[in-house]
Amino acid sequence: MPVGVLGVSYGSRFACLADTLCRSWHMVRLFIADKQRNPFNLRKAQETGGEHVVIPDLDVREIVKFARRHAREISFGILGPEGPGMQGIRDQLERETGIKMICPSLQYFLEKSKVRQRKLLQEVAPEANPRFRVFDPAEIPRERVKEEVYRWLDEVGERVAVKPDAPATGKGVGVWGDHFRTREEMFQEYFLPSFAKGPVIVEEKLEGEEFSLQFLSDGEHLVPTPCVRDYKRAFDWDQGPNTGGMGSYKDRGELLPFMERRDWEEAVSIAERLHRRLKGEGRNPGLMGVMYVGYILTREGVKVLEVNSRWGDPEVMNLMPLLEDDFVEVCFKCLDGELRGMRFRERASVVIYAVPLDYGGYRKYSGPRRVRLEEAEELRKRYGEDLRLYPGSLEVRENGELWALSSRTVAAVGLAEDLGRAREIALEAVRRIDGPLRHREDIALREHVERSISHMRALRSSAP
Ligand code: AMP
Ligand code: GLY
Repeated sequence: MPVGVLGVSYGSRFACLADTLCRSWHMVRLFIADKQRNPFNLRKAQETGGEHVVIPDLDVREIVKFARRHAREISFGILGPEGPGMQGIRDQLERETGIKMICPSLQYFLEKSKVRQRKLLQEVAPEANPRFRVFDPAEIPRERVKEEVYRWLDEVGERVAVKPDAPATGKGVGVWGDHFRTREEMFQEYFLPSFAKGPVIVEEKLEGEEFSLQFLSDGEHLVPTPCVRDYKRAFDWDQGPNTGGMGSYKDRGELLPFMERRDWEEAVSIAERLHRRLKGEGRNPGLMGVMYVGYILTREGVKVLEVNSRWGDPEVMNLMPLLEDDFVEVCFKCLDGELRGMRFRERASVVIYAVPLDYGGYRKYSGPRRVRLEEAEELRKRYGEDLRLYPGSLEVRENGELWALSSRTVAAVGLAEDLGRAREIALEAVRRIDGPLRHREDIALREHVERSISHMRALRSSAP
């Protein structure tokens, strides 16, 4: 019996999930609702006897309509981006088609409110929060808010991060030193524009090394996967604006080179406490799905930056190619409330994204955007399964040509026994992608990794 899977896709993340599904011993058929004609997803849907449709805004009603047409063939769904999740895709799909989607129901999409995230953490793991304060326009009149914000700065210091409550895909966040240096700048340029729309958090700026941990919940058990380091900034050596992530690495085991075992235990324990608080007594199927936690390791231990309800992009691409278990089986266990663990090969992985020249908006490019992947694909003859190429914001035209759209174009994933080798494979492939694209050269570079190690050593030795 073939297993039909509904996929909701945005970016390379789902291409990787589709690849992992197709490696199952089950015969998988993919029914993919995609943001554009992603060449990888299109081919997988065709090869497996499924269907690929383009729904440019990933409107939930349209996705549900597509799923309904194939309701008898689809066993379950997998969500790529958070957008449809925050519109309640899980609830709507199940209500209207009976198909279960592996992602939390609407009320557990914590990315909807950063204030709620901080308040929940304050209940279960206050030590994982920075010192923070919420300024709510429903409670504080506009003419008094400046005084109140400045009074808070007198207490917490000038070095803060300012975050709107509502999701702004990272762009609404302002951090001292990166985005502003004075109170006035912070208040005028970051605080007020967000305060005009809703509550704003002003929290202590944390210093340390960032990492993320992705968990899969079956509604009862919360299963961790290895830690991943994301490179958020647009340019080498972490210069320039934040992006969705220019690349990422995973070391051989669960930990990253700058972490100690107790950091891992702390990070897992924080997530478990949060999961238990949301779950309540017994199993809570509404919680089934991914929990992505962005942490920062500081001199005072592990703190939480954000919580999301979907796989990280690029981070999921560090994990899935190394999954030892059959992913379809993992999904079935998840649906049944029987997920007790996930096994990964003890190998390193490095993801490097090729992005359009104008990605992030810091420069202009109005020329043609044709992309050729043949030379990079050629390398698969040499590296076999140790090299994966996952197209993201790339579309195949009717004539077969590939054209880059506006977001991250193609991810090159290198797998090897150590980080250095995995980096070489990914880098060699990304350099062979032909097109008006660029990438970061320092992803998992030894000097970069060592800088994180010595940064953490210095922070720990100055711990109170
Ligand atoms: P968020 O959307 O909350 O994850 O914030 C986006 C990015 O801003 C994070 O990945 C961090 O690099 C940075 N950031 C957010 N909050 C803080 C904080 N309290 N201290 C330092 N950096 C932060
Ligand atoms: N790469 C960051 C994220 O997926 O949230």
